[in-house]
Amino acid sequence: MLNLSGATVVSPTRSFSGNLFDTEQAKILVVDDHPSSRLTAVALLSVEGYEVLEADSGSTALAQVVETNPDLILLDVMMPGMDGFEVCRRLKQDDATRLIPVVFITALNDRRSRIIGIEAGGDDFLTKPFDRLELSARVRYLVRQKRLNEDLDHAEQVLFSIARAVESRDPNTGDHCERLVEVGKAFGEFLQLSRAEIRNLIWGGYLHDIGKVGIPDAVLLKAGKFTPEEREIMNQHVLIGEKICKPLRTMQGVIPIIRHHHERWDGSGYPDGLMGDRIPFLAQVFQIIDIYDALTSERPYKLAFPPAKALEIIDEETAKGWRNPKLIKQFREFVLTTQTNAIVKNFTAQSSVA
Ligand SMILES: [Fe+2]
Repeated sequence: MLNLSGATVVSPTRSFSGNLFDTEQAKILVVDDHPSSRLTAVALLSVEGYEVLEADSGSTALAQVVETNPDLILLDVMMPGMDGFEVCRRLKQDDATRLIPVVFITALNDRRSRIIGIEAGGDDFLTKPFDRLELSARVRYLVRQKRLNEDLDHAEQVLFSIARAVESRDPNTGDHCERLVEVGKAFGEFLQLSRAEIRNLIWGGYLHDIGKVGIPDAVLLKAGKFTPEEREIMNQHVLIGEKICKPLRTMQGVIPIIRHHHERWDGSGYPDGLMGDRIPFLAQVFQIIDIYDALTSERPYKLAFPPAKALEIIDEETAKGWRNPKLIKQFREFVLTTQTNAIVKNFTAQSSVA
């Protein structure tokens, strides 16, 4: 490789960390109330080229984590005051620190500690006295894993940012996504869906129209009716959205919502013209929320319909064969009975639902 002056620049050699541009030195926090125990770990890890930080108690460790954002924590279990398990629990419950691997230092054959450690969210265990090679191998593996997880987390965040950018580009939608997320969660709970299904509904709220990023302004922002060609272009958004999200394994559960949220019960929807229960269930659930929100929100071309009118329109569409009658009945019950959902509460305050 040549720099600007023409001299050869030798790239530093380093182990593969999952990201070819990631050359940052990893930081390890060693937490132990015994200075002599910390000394051994610090010496071994420093030789391996890590930046090593120390904490002598659980509370100091938590403060250090916030301040220094380490890549891994070696955590003694038995400490006066807050023990290692509690430190780990707190770290794993916090979104900002949950991805930092925690390795518990336990006595050999301490089965009970290992079980509690797993329940507290610990990632691995090491026994004292340290085996230099074992310590080195585990730390290297966990740091690499942490960076891969962070990359994945960042990739998800990028998709959510794109979805927000798409929403802000479309003057028709306002805070549509935020409302979909709230109502999606409440209706998912009403239907007693699993946690994973509710998470997919919530993600669907943000990501269902991400494919609009590939729709030209002339079509997306058109005020009047679409020509057949423009309609064809607009309908592509479900396929573009699927393509954007497909490479991420964590998006698999939300892809049926992205691809199928414009199908109709009688097969007259797009992109696949699926009929009845061949339409993925979460896409059916999501579609009702999407339509209800569009009807009950003000748009540049229409006023907000009150819930009773919105449900009436949805009933008319169901009579035409477009929606799942059983699910529509459940949605009506949800709108009528949900008192805790702030959005629905707002609407019911404005107008009584027939
Ligand atoms: Fe859509």
